[in-house]
Amino acid sequence: MNRLAVPRRKMTRDEIENQVRQIGPWFHNLDLAGVQTAPEHFLGDYPRVKWQRFAHAIPDNLADKTVLDIGCNGGFYSIEMKRRGAARVVGIDSDNDYLLQARLAAEICGVDIELRKLSVYDVGALAEKFDLVLFMGVLYHLRHPLLALDLIRRHVAKDLFVFQSMQRGSNEVASLEDDYEFWNEDIFEKPGFPRLCFIEKKYSGDPTNWWVPNRACSEAMLRSAGFTIEANPEDEVYVCRCAAITAGGRHWPGEIKEP
Ligand SMILES: C[S@@+](CC[C@H](N)C(=O)[O-])C[C@H]1O[C@@H](n2cnc3c(N)ncnc32)[C@H](O)[C@@H]1O
Repeated sequence: MNRLAVPRRKMTRDEIENQVRQIGPWFHNLDLAGVQTAPEHFLGDYPRVKWQRFAHAIPDNLADKTVLDIGCNGGFYSIEMKRRGAARVVGIDSDNDYLLQARLAAEICGVDIELRKLSVYDVGALAEKFDLVLFMGVLYHLRHPLLALDLIRRHVAKDLFVFQSMQRGSNEVASLEDDYEFWNEDIFEKPGFPRLCFIEKKYSGDPTNWWVPNRACSEAMLRSAGFTIEANPEDEVYVCRCAAITAGGRHWPGEIKEP
């Protein structure tokens, strides 16, 4: 049942405040006609503070472009993409409560966003490729992160791909050979070797944190899934283009040939 009845007329500030509190807590701190949705966010004015650090790396003008925002949450990035003139923005999330928030936010901001409850694992059901795909802050919430990247590349990414992940461990990126002999264990000790840490129970009180990459691992996974990294405008943010799907020149079980 829809817990939210957004009036067709312009809402008063009190009505907005009421609606916002009714469907909280929010992860995105949005400014909805003067009402802050998550003013106490532990990361500050999030994700605006993050966006301000990489907004310059995304095309200013998205006219005629289609955008898919995977894990759209309260809709911050979807709304910003509409503000840049995107012809169409589709926001998907696996969580109904966040979709409800995004719906209210889009309504109050007066932007048209298509919102769908869909997991990243099911992006094939969209049967469409998008000019710009955003995959921000979702990878480490997934039990199967590389599968998600593969599915995105296969089914929905057409050109630009913007990725962000929480990263932990070294910021170094080791320069590696294609192969090492069996007895070489030293490479695994290099701080800049790609490393994905498994969270068996919780991290930061959150049981939905599953795998946390270091920087080298984010970069290697992106390449392996068929993306070329064009820019790294913010520590955790990568602006990529679709490249050939080669899985680093390897075959992997379940591999589907390019259509
Ligand atoms: C940390 S929030 C990031 C939100 C937003 N993309 C951002 O960068 O601010 C993670 C979001 O991913 C969503 N999510 C988690 N698992 C998902 C899945 N399998 N498919 C789609 N969305 C998922 C969560 O519901 C949540 O909205």
